[in-house]
Amino acid sequence: MAEPPGDRILVTGALGQIGTDLVGALRDRHGSDSVIASDVREVPRHPLLEDGPFRLLSVLDGDGMDSMVREEEVGEIYHLAAILSATGEKKPELCQRVNVGGTITVLETAKEHGLRVFSPSSIAVFGPDAPRTAPQVTPLNPTTTYGMTKVTGEMMALNYWKQYGVDARGIRYPGLISWKSPPGGGTTDYAVEIFHAALNERHYDCFVGPDTRLPMMYIDDAIRGTIELMEAPTESIGPSRGGYNLSGMSFTAGDLANAISERVDGFTCEFKPDERQQYADSWPDDVDDSTAREDWGWKAEYDLGRMVNEMLDRLNDQS
Ligand code: NAD
Ligand code: SER
Repeated sequence: MAEPPGDRILVTGALGQIGTDLVGALRDRHGSDSVIASDVREVPRHPLLEDGPFRLLSVLDGDGMDSMVREEEVGEIYHLAAILSATGEKKPELCQRVNVGGTITVLETAKEHGLRVFSPSSIAVFGPDAPRTAPQVTPLNPTTTYGMTKVTGEMMALNYWKQYGVDARGIRYPGLISWKSPPGGGTTDYAVEIFHAALNERHYDCFVGPDTRLPMMYIDDAIRGTIELMEAPTESIGPSRGGYNLSGMSFTAGDLANAISERVDGFTCEFKPDERQQYADSWPDDVDDSTAREDWGWKAEYDLGRMVNEMLDRLNDQS
């Protein structure tokens, strides 16, 4: 493997839901100047653009990424740029191009320059034939285009490690719940939208049914898990490196609405399933994360009650 040009961190897709939190956490840890946020778009007055370096960069631009890695002295890439499930089913060609093509750009750049890579996967790798609590190792037969791109991403991460020694690692994130930035076109977005609607309108029309149960996670657990995985010694990372199952919590949309009603007077929720119901139905209820626990000591800290309190408190503070 080549010697990396430096030890700065490049984050792709940084203006999305995860990047908005992850870049801040990495900057707190390594210093603002050491973490370069990048995205294919700019968002005026976004805090990441004011707190440290930001560069416009498409993950489909291999030459652009190569120059950036050399000029900015990068040693590690957190590759968050992607098209999520709901948008991906509307635009499957774009989803494949960005998710698979973008990951190839990142892994090829990493191979060329000896970089470490974090490239997330998703619970969307599972299909309807997976057990309701999906084990780490089980047939991966997703029915969504997005899920298929995530299976490909996991396999590429493992393959680049085996073939070229690229230290690429990933997590099969559950649906993530955060308050700082809106979710980006996924099926689990209802679990974030419901909080904003509860506080602003006292009502939410939920696009999945009340009995829809999915694996979910509060953003602070997801960010901590990401950093813990990337800081784990190489010898502790096993063959699940392309996508570790991480369990956070598992609840139905009805459970979530009820938990919010207990804190927000007069809140009502109507369930009006749309096409996203079928994507949710194809995913498991929960995941078994024993491999991540054993390999690098993962443990979630937030359950449904703690997450709901935190979301409402933070959003109330913000308004
Ligand atoms: P997001 O949709 O909020 O953000 C993705 C970002 O990628 C956006 O800011 C977008 O502008 C950018 N982007 C799109 N095309 C690009 C391109 N060609 N070049 C550069 N940037 C581009 O997504 P997120 O929720 O932050 O997810 C990040 C990663 O985590 C993705 O791989 C996603 O599949 C995975 N993930 C997220 C969740 C979740 O609940 N948020 C769950 C499972 C997996
Ligand atoms: N939260 C993501 C989505 O719904 C799962 O990867 O698309």
